[in-house]
Amino acid sequence: MSARIRVELEWPRHNAVRAGDETYFCLERAGSVHLIHSRCPHRGGPLHLGEIEAERLRCPWHGNTFRVDRLCDRAVPTIQRGSSVVAYLPADFGEAVPVQQIVFAS
Ligand code: FES
Repeated sequence: MSARIRVELEWPRHNAVRAGDETYFCLERAGSVHLIHSRCPHRGGPLHLGEIEAERLRCPWHGNTFRVDRLCDRAVPTIQRGSSVVAYLPADFGEAVPVQQIVFAS
C-alpha cells in the first residue's frame, strides 16, 4: 500500500483539496461527502469546474459527461463526523491543503 497523507476539511466551508498540482473536490450525495479527483479521464480537464445535469457531471473542456454515482464509487474514501471530513490522499503530491474552491454549478 502506498503512503498516504491525512487531510481534514470543514464541510462545507472547504469543498476541495489542493495537493501539489492536483485538485480533489467534494460532492455530497445521499448524505455522504465524496472526495473526487478532478482530473478528467479524457484529457485531464478540471471536473470541479463542470456542471451537473441529470445526475451526470459535464467536463468543461470537451463536454464528456460522467455518471455522478460512478464518480462517487471511485472517490477517495472519507470519514465524516458532523462538519468534519477526513480523507487519506496519496502522499505523492506532498502537502494536501483544504480550500474553498469555485466548483460546478448544480
Ligand atoms: S478533458 Fe474532459 S472531456 Fe475532454
